[in-house]
This record gives sequence, C-alpha cells and structure tokens, in this order.
Amino acid sequence: MEIARTPAQLRAARAAFAAAGRPRLALVPTMGALHEGHLSLIRVARAHGDVVAASIFVNPTQFAPGEDFARYPRDEAADCAMLAAAGCDLVWLPDVTTMYPPGDATIIDVAGPALLWEGVARPGHFRGVATVVAKLFGQVRPDAACFGEKDWQQVQVIRRMVDDLGLPVAVVAAPTWREANGLAMSSRNRYLAAAERAAAPALFAALTGTRDAICAGAPVRQCVAAGEAALVAAGFTVDYLALVDAQTLEPLSDRVGAARLIAAARLGTTRLLDNIAV
Ligand code: PAF
Repeated sequence: MEIARTPAQLRAARAAFAAAGRPRLALVPTMGALHEGHLSLIRVARAHGDVVAASIFVNPTQFAPGEDFARYPRDEAADCAMLAAAGCDLVWLPDVTTMYPPGDATIIDVAGPALLWEGVARPGHFRGVATVVAKLFGQVRPDAACFGEKDWQQVQVIRRMVDDLGLPVAVVAAPTWREANGLAMSSRNRYLAAAERAAAPALFAALTGTRDAICAGAPVRQCVAAGEAALVAAGFTVDYLALVDAQTLEPLSDRVGAARLIAAARLGTTRLLDNIAV
C-alpha cells in the first residue's frame, strides 16, 4: 500500500497507478479511528475503481467549539495496518497546512439538505464537511467516492454539493455496518462506558419499531412519540427522531415517496446517529 503525505507524493502515486494501467480511482474519505464499517467501504470502493484510496484527516472545521476534536481517536499506524489488510492501495495523509494553507479563504456552504437536524445541532458542521470533501476531491481527483449511509444527511449534503458544482465524482453510498445487536458502527462508539454500550442498541431497535408502526399504518406523529419514549426509557436523551424526505431531509408527516427515519440521541456525553429506510 502506497502512503502519500504531500500533494507531490499523491500526484506521483496517482501517475504511477495510471501508468500501470490503473487510471480509475475510488476514494474512501475518513477521519481515521477505523472500524469494520470503514473496511466495508474499502470493499465497496473496489467495485468503482482500479485503485482504492482512503484519506485520513481529522478535519478541525467540522467540529464545533466544545466538541471532541482534541480527544478524537488518532492512531495512524493501526489505521494504515487495517487499510492494508483490507486491500487499500493508497492512503492520503495530508497535514493541516495542506488542507488549510495560510491565507485560506474559501468555504463551501451547502443549504438545502444541510439546514435541518445535524445542521441545527452542530452549527457549521456541514460547512466543514463540504469544504474538506471538496478539497479532498480536488487533491485526489477520484472517479468515485464512497460514504457510509450511517451519516445519511452527510451523504445528501455531499450529493447536493457534487451536483451543484458539477464535480466529476460518482458519490456511492454504502449500507450502514452494524454490530450483531444492531448498533451502527461508529468511531465514537469507543467513548461509550460499559452500561452505555449495553443500552446503545436501543437506538436501532427504536428506529425499526417506529418504522414498523409507520408501515402498519399508524399515524407518524404517534409512532415517533412512541419511539422517543422507548429511547428515553433506555436512558437516551433524544435530540431528534423524525421521518424525513430521503433526499431533501424535509420533515414528513406522512409516508410518501422515498422516506428515511433519522435519529440522534445521547447516552451520557456520547451522541449517536442512526437512520433507516421507510
Ligand atoms: O464521515 C467522515 O468521516 C467525515 O465527515 C468526512 C466525510 C471524512 C469528512 O471529514
């Protein structure tokens, strides 16, 4: 597996792969702290490129003040070993100055699907995500980029940005990777204390229970209230549980078209996100 730490190394690696008859590249952008969910994205990426690349960059601009930027888990050696074992061909490890050079004055501010939910709970978060993903696309120039559906709203924001800017990248969304108990894999799960980890699968259970009730024809508002009550009973503080349009993230009061049930809820200081199709 090639490792590139500078734009020049990245360009040289990209050129070497192309010269070897492997011109198409699929990128898996990450912030490290890798788990099986990321590795599933590496496997999905294999179907979309001759070369599979991952980027690791803990992006400061997508963390609001007071969030976990400082303590976000960083273990480059372990991450690279996992990527190599999963068959990744190239890792892009830019530093902060490469991503945000002195005098940096450009941000990407997506409205539409970025405005609600995480956009409200984490002001500036999607501005940071869109900006760093646009930079990664400019540096790596992938033909395709793979993101996990666990961050459903993030995927819609990136799709919106790619469509609006006409970026030549196919955005591929891959299914959420779950533990056997249903808990969506996330780098932040490692913050959970033992009792919180035991309670955490209740988030997926509340989503599936709410979805099943909606699909059985019960009023959406009533189903969502029951789902929230189940989360509170399991020890969560609920930020939101909502039925939304799968693309625009606008709230839905009825099940029409492609709908998604999305949730964010906290166990202690750890905030968990999950979502399912309805
Ligand atoms: O989903 C993530 O890990 C991050 O938001 C991303 C897409 C790598 C941008 O920093």
